[in-house]
Amino acid sequence: MLLRALSRRSTGFGLRARLQSPMLGLCGLLMLFGLAADRAVASDPAKTLGPNACGECHKQETEAWKGSHHFKTFRELPRNEKAKEIADKMGVRRIRSEGLCLNCHYTVQQKDGKEEVVAGISCESCHSAGQDWIKVHSEFSGKTEQSETKAEKEARWKLADSKGMIRPESLYALAKNCLGCHVVPQEDLVNKGGHPAGSAFELVSWSQGEVRHNTWLSKGKDNVPADAARKRMLYLVGLGVELETGIRGVARATARKQYAFEMAKRVDRARKQLSAAAKAAPGVPEIAEMVKFAYSAGLKLNNERYLTAAADGVSKLLVSVTQKYDGSTLAGLDSLIPGPDKFKGTATKAGATN
Ligand code: HEC
Ligand code: HEC
Ligand code: HEC
Ligand code: HEC
Repeated sequence: MLLRALSRRSTGFGLRARLQSPMLGLCGLLMLFGLAADRAVASDPAKTLGPNACGECHKQETEAWKGSHHFKTFRELPRNEKAKEIADKMGVRRIRSEGLCLNCHYTVQQKDGKEEVVAGISCESCHSAGQDWIKVHSEFSGKTEQSETKAEKEARWKLADSKGMIRPESLYALAKNCLGCHVVPQEDLVNKGGHPAGSAFELVSWSQGEVRHNTWLSKGKDNVPADAARKRMLYLVGLGVELETGIRGVARATARKQYAFEMAKRVDRARKQLSAAAKAAPGVPEIAEMVKFAYSAGLKLNNERYLTAAADGVSKLLVSVTQKYDGSTLAGLDSLIPGPDKFKGTATKAGATN
């Protein structure tokens, strides 16, 4: 049905596209601003300290990161033939120094007024640029870990959050940030550049394999996977954010091409999976409400207003899901959640260097 909705526009679209073409430059710019607005904190080069700054204290986490594609893309991408092809088609001459690819494949840090590429996708790509919160998060309110009171600790985390830190606890922000890169929001990059429209992303399996670095709380003894309750929350919020991001992707589409189809497919897959989750966890009425939003706006071109309203609706529900539930009562979801055999890549074993 969604593909039909999109293909119904096939006649006349060519003309429309041609009429609009003088606007494309402007649209492209607006889209880039849109992306910057979504990921403003996470990718602000002026506030980025680089992974070495985190590694001073977080040795194990840094070791784990070094085993991931996120780390390796730094060296490997510029040598990748497919990358050169995409870059050529997009008119990007130097992959590691022009904006488009940097957004998602690299960490950019401002040093002496100049922007420098310092790593692949690193700590601050996921936890947000650290300058404003690095001190706050680690200082135990000026005391020691033992003497800091519970209230002081809570205030410290609240302050770190308010300064933009994305912590494991901020599940919605965390998931949104992954999908900000793993669903590609630039139509041109897909249709013209031939870049994948995104990954076959699922938050449990994609966070518990090579990306996993749960080595801090265990004091480096073990890289423990998320427990059952957390996995349920990761699964549910991951799917919801996939839905939200996909809907926004369709809303942005202007051409009946690959990008639009891929985004529509994403939405359709996510809403079907969420329907199954709604049945499996009837104690969470928000899931069915998300599904309702997902069917409330046609997956077609020129429907931005309704699609954006649907995505905003899903977003609000997700925020309340993360506030109301901690996963402990959602065992119904367990049979839907991918098991360890589906984890993406291999998690690093922890040593004892933390
Ligand atoms: C001076 C040492 C130090 C540096 C540098 C440091 N951290 Fe931390 N980090 C800590 C300490 C200590 C904690 C644990 C605080 C606690 O348990 O209350 C922590 C906890 C964390 C957590 C877990 C938060 C939570 O909610 O439990 C994350 C994520 C994190 N740091 C990320 C980073 C990133 C990213 C950087 C670099 C920008 C960084 N840290 C730099 C000491 C540091
Ligand atoms: C919105 C984020 C985003 C932007 C912008 C982006 N990429 Fe990617 N790229 C990704 C993600 C996510 C993947 C992993 C896709 C997957 O799961 O296979 C990827 C994968 C790739 C791959 C591997 C694809 C394959 O088929 O093996 C290449 C090559 C690549 N990107 C090149 C580029 C180049 C060159 C640019 C700039 C012109 C660029 N990317 C811009 C997010 C992005
Ligand atoms: C791809 C995104 C991503 C990157 C890159 C990343 N993190 Fe994380 N980090 C996460 C997620 C997601 C969690 C929570 C994982 C979970 O619940 O299973 C986490 C958890 C943590 C924790 C808490 C660990 C614990 O024992 O509970 C710390 C500390 C941390 N990260 C620090 C870092 C540091 C330092 C780096 C860079 C060396 C880094 N992270 C790179 C996404 C990322
Ligand atoms: C700044 C953009 C960005 C963010 C944020 C991000 N990723 Fe990625 N991720 C990428 C890109 C680009 C690749 C492909 C790297 C390559 O292979 O060249 C990738 C690759 C991966 C891979 C390896 C996939 C494979 O093909 O084996 C996993 C797993 C992954 N990401 C999980 C996550 C998770 C989980 C999060 C959030 C906690 C996350 N990513 C956040 C950009 C990002």
